[in-house]
Amino acid sequence: MAALLYRLDKLTADVLGCPRKEAVQLIRQGRIAVDGSVCTVPETRVKEKSLLAKDGRPLREGGAVYLLMNKPLGFVCSAEDDGGQSVLALVPEQLSSKKLFSVGRLDKNTTGALMLTDDGDLAHRLLAPSRHVPKMYRAVLDGELSAAAIRRLEAGIGLGNGEQCLPCRVERLQDRMALVTLEEGKYHQVRRMFAAVGLFVEQLERISFGPLNTEGLELGKTRPLTAEEIALLKGEKE
Ligand code: URA
Repeated sequence: MAALLYRLDKLTADVLGCPRKEAVQLIRQGRIAVDGSVCTVPETRVKEKSLLAKDGRPLREGGAVYLLMNKPLGFVCSAEDDGGQSVLALVPEQLSSKKLFSVGRLDKNTTGALMLTDDGDLAHRLLAPSRHVPKMYRAVLDGELSAAAIRRLEAGIGLGNGEQCLPCRVERLQDRMALVTLEEGKYHQVRRMFAAVGLFVEQLERISFGPLNTEGLELGKTRPLTAEEIALLKGEKE
């Protein structure tokens, strides 16, 4: 059965117990977020179960949360302490009751784009090998990246233990710096790919994950995904 849709101003007024006029004002002022994204259009149709927040504070339970973090060095993606503090320690306090997890993982020593959600179904779909979500990394290397090494990497390199990478894109930015775009996510893949051509990755940053990128997002900060980003990730929009 299709989910019931309500106008955002009506739902906000109902949840806050305030006049519709007041709800409209709050929405236009950008103080109301729906499922983690600020919405300034009172007529927007939203699901009855959407999570509404006022000034960043959830108004009631329900609705999934979608965040992008610019992960700093030294934090780990698991909830337990396995050699570092969890990225969950960086999530805004008002979301601390949510059961968030990262969509895929970044190493402790990798920085950059990390999606967090409590929507297990979407996370599962995004991580499915058949989905081919492109992930772009910037790697700083300990030596020069040759044209021959780029050809080997782009063709899909073997990792030496029987594991075989899919073809990918490698763009040389400087002698010792490259952009790598992968559509898969093997354990420590970028570091192991460069190791297979005799190079050590000194710094690794994920620039983007599908349609999400860290432009304008400070290291260690999170932001809610926009409605457009969520629709793109869900495949509801091209
Ligand atoms: N590849 C790696 O080697 N590390 C990451 O964190 C992500 C991709």
